[in-house]
Amino acid sequence: MLLLWVSVVAASALAAPAPGARGWRRGAPAAPNVVLVVSDAFVSYDAITIPNWSPLSEMHPIDYYSSYTKNCTGKFTEKEVQDIRAFYYAMCAETDAMLGEIISALHQLDLLQETVVIYTSDHGELAMEHRQFYKMSMYEASAHVPLLIMGPGIEANLQVSNVVSLVDIYPTMLDIAGIPVPQNLSGYSLLPLSSETFKNEQKLQDLRPPWILSEFHGCNANASTYMLRTKQWKYIAYSDGASVSPQLFDLSSDPDELTNIALKFPEITYSLDQKLRSIINYPQVSASVHQYNKEQFTKWKESLGQNYSNVIANLRWHQDWLKEPRKYESAIGEWLNHTDTKLLKQ
Ligand SMILES: *[C@@H]1O[C@H](CO)[C@@H](O)[C@H](O)[C@H]1NC(C)=O
Ligand SMILES: *[C@@H]1O[C@H](CO)[C@@H](O)[C@H](O)[C@H]1NC(C)=O
Ligand SMILES: *[C@@H]1O[C@H](CO)[C@@H](O)[C@H](O)[C@H]1NC(C)=O
Ligand SMILES: *[C@@H]1O[C@H](CO)[C@@H](O)[C@H](O)[C@H]1NC(C)=O
Ligand SMILES: *[C@@H]1O[C@H](CO)[C@@H](O)[C@H](O)[C@H]1NC(C)=O
Repeated sequence: MLLLWVSVVAASALAAPAPGARGWRRGAPAAPNVVLVVSDAFVSYDAITIPNWSPLSEMHPIDYYSSYTKNCTGKFTEKEVQDIRAFYYAMCAETDAMLGEIISALHQLDLLQETVVIYTSDHGELAMEHRQFYKMSMYEASAHVPLLIMGPGIEANLQVSNVVSLVDIYPTMLDIAGIPVPQNLSGYSLLPLSSETFKNEQKLQDLRPPWILSEFHGCNANASTYMLRTKQWKYIAYSDGASVSPQLFDLSSDPDELTNIALKFPEITYSLDQKLRSIINYPQVSASVHQYNKEQFTKWKESLGQNYSNVIANLRWHQDWLKEPRKYESAIGEWLNHTDTKLLKQ
């Protein structure tokens, strides 16, 4: 048995369709090993929808921070939004063509009948939905990824509506290889979803939980973020679960996730929050992430010695940094000096 891993990195790492960019993302390093020939000339502009945005004043504070650090809080014309989306769709089309080449090659080599092809992605692209491009968000455009599987034993043209997660890929591959799946994994093999035996909803419920979990602690979001997703609901909790208000979206009636109904449906919010806490003690995780960030920052600062002020002033910050570098450096100083008693008590 052979495993062939093919990755298209260009779409994500080097050329997110950022506002103002046509082609390479500004500031992206040249990558001689990557050939990206994107042309939006083949994209049908008429088919491109323009996403609705909440007014800036109504945005959730964490979303506002993300839009702001991505330089997306300014004005955009419809044409600009359309161009960014066209560029993204062109990248999708190119990736699709690349996948086609791989499948053709398998066919020519007479390997297609005995090969399982799994196509997926590590994240989506907001492409100006929710006033953002890029990723690092729990909105569908970012957190919802394509997942296509074909091969022997996999039913053709079957669209599975269950929520599944990338942590399911590992047990799925073990399952395909006939290797026993360890009992304590976070994921579950996807193979039963494509077999006739398990069409029965009840049997599926016994096999895998009806929710998936996602968490994010990286840049462009100013609080640790946790998402619990079921078929109908998306619950997003932040930080210690108290200092930042959560979000709840009903994906069945609000697929664009524009209306946070956490306050309108307190029972659902509460029960999803309880469920989330039973899976992960998220306030504690947030506290340790916060502590880790401070420790690492302090180490880095110390390693720079007297050069710190100069180095930090010239990192790739939002343009606002350059207006008042001293002010922001001192804000970081306060953050480092301040002990988060609330977080540490958790
Ligand atoms: C995140 O940034 C937003 C926008 O600047 C701000 O309102 C909010 O208080 C920040 N939240 C945290 C937890 O730092
Ligand atoms: C931020 O966006 C504005 C337009 O809204 C643009 O003029 C400016 O160059 C952008 N800045 C950066 C650093 O990309
Ligand atoms: C899962 O089980 C294996 C083997 O028993 C063990 O080595 C591993 O630490 C366990 N992982 C977790 C997350 O419990
Ligand atoms: C500070 O910068 C100078 C000049 O680039 C360099 O020689 C020196 O090693 C740096 N010091 C530290 C602690 O990084
Ligand atoms: C942080 O604490 C250090 C050491 O006590 C002090 O020198 C520095 O001025 C403080 N910085 C801020 C911004 O409060």
